Amino acid sequence: MANVRIEGVSKVYAGRTVLSSLSLEIQDGECFTLLGPSGCGKTVLMRLIAGFETPDGGSISIGDQVVASAASAQALPPEQRALGMVFQDYAVWPHMSVFDNIAYPLKLAQVDPAALRERTMHAVALVGLDGLEARLPSQLSGGQQQRVALARALVSEPRLLLLDEPLNNLDANLREEMRFEIKALQRKLGVTILYVTHDQEIALAISDRLAVMDETGALRQIGAPQEVYENPADDFVFRFLGIANFLPVRRDGAALYIGGSAAPWVGPEPDKHGARITAGFRPSDVLLARGGEGLPGIIVRASFLGAQVDYLIDIAGTLIRAALPSHECLARDLLFVEGESCRVSLATVQWFDGDIVSGARA
Ligand SMILES: Nc1ncnc2c1ncn2[C@@H]1O[C@H](COP(=O)(O)OP(=O)(O)OP(=O)(O)O)[C@@H](O)[C@H]1O
Ligand SMILES: [Mg+2]
Repeated sequence: MANVRIEGVSKVYAGRTVLSSLSLEIQDGECFTLLGPSGCGKTVLMRLIAGFETPDGGSISIGDQVVASAASAQALPPEQRALGMVFQDYAVWPHMSVFDNIAYPLKLAQVDPAALRERTMHAVALVGLDGLEARLPSQLSGGQQQRVALARALVSEPRLLLLDEPLNNLDANLREEMRFEIKALQRKLGVTILYVTHDQEIALAISDRLAVMDETGALRQIGAPQEVYENPADDFVFRFLGIANFLPVRRDGAALYIGGSAAPWVGPEPDKHGARITAGFRPSDVLLARGGEGLPGIIVRASFLGAQVDYLIDIAGTLIRAALPSHECLARDLLFVEGESCRVSLATVQWFDGDIVSGARA
């Protein structure tokens, strides 16, 4: 069993609290992602689980074993925690061959040469590096080096794999390929994965469940990717899971207006009842027309991006972003140019209390 239980964990550096009473449980065999902005404490949490740091409060268990506890001031050393790690900079040793890099943890554990060779070659095959064992890292692509780091983390057959932004240094195509491979590996090996990133696309793609952490290190929401995407707990989570448009709405008696303007709100009914509320929606939720019903908008910027057309639209003084499939724009005469007026309808809206400022800029 490799479920991970983090109970009330705190970490303080020189009087500055980075994690405050954090609790989280990761199930056995699950791919769990911690998603949060830079500096929120993701790596600190990984280091605590791995055993490179000790908590100032709370406890951490892996399976039925308490590996660190502030109360008893006990901590199991990293090498006894049976976990594999790929850290942010994934350092592979430049002077060692692929084989020696991957075999390193087994060498440390003094595994006998025959078993070492067999297990290393198994890990090599697992990440698709067959035939490249004798090469030096400098003779590999970024993606291949990444696989070396992954194989090295997997070679001791860990019960838990900690992956801290392991795909950061890869280009977009490789990143996409590797995230499928990590997911496939997890299914094949049944290993528990804790994956840390600030990239919402990766988090949505690979997680069984994910947690969204804010800049203070507090967890805002935990759930399955679709659940969190479709029912964000608050505007922070909404903003963090993709491009977010926010349109302020004012209630005056039974009537609803856009922000401070006299333009009436046209769109889905709010499920919030305050005098000031905000409609949140994604660029892909925006439907455009040349006339008829809808919110009146002016096209501020139009960018043709191949598969889609991106528009920046001014709605009663608020800028929002829209993304429409190019084929739809062509088929329905929706290729607008800057300065043209349009009508905006919204397929779905998430309602929030109060005025929230939109992130879109001209
Ligand atoms: N050893 C340390 N001593 C003092 N402060 C530290 C130490 N390690 C981390 N911190 C601080 O803790 C906070 C969280 O750092 P952490 O590295 O966990 O962020 P992160 O969420 O991993 O960010 P990123 O996405 O940029 O990697 C930061 O403000 C950092 O400066
Ligand atoms: Mg980090």
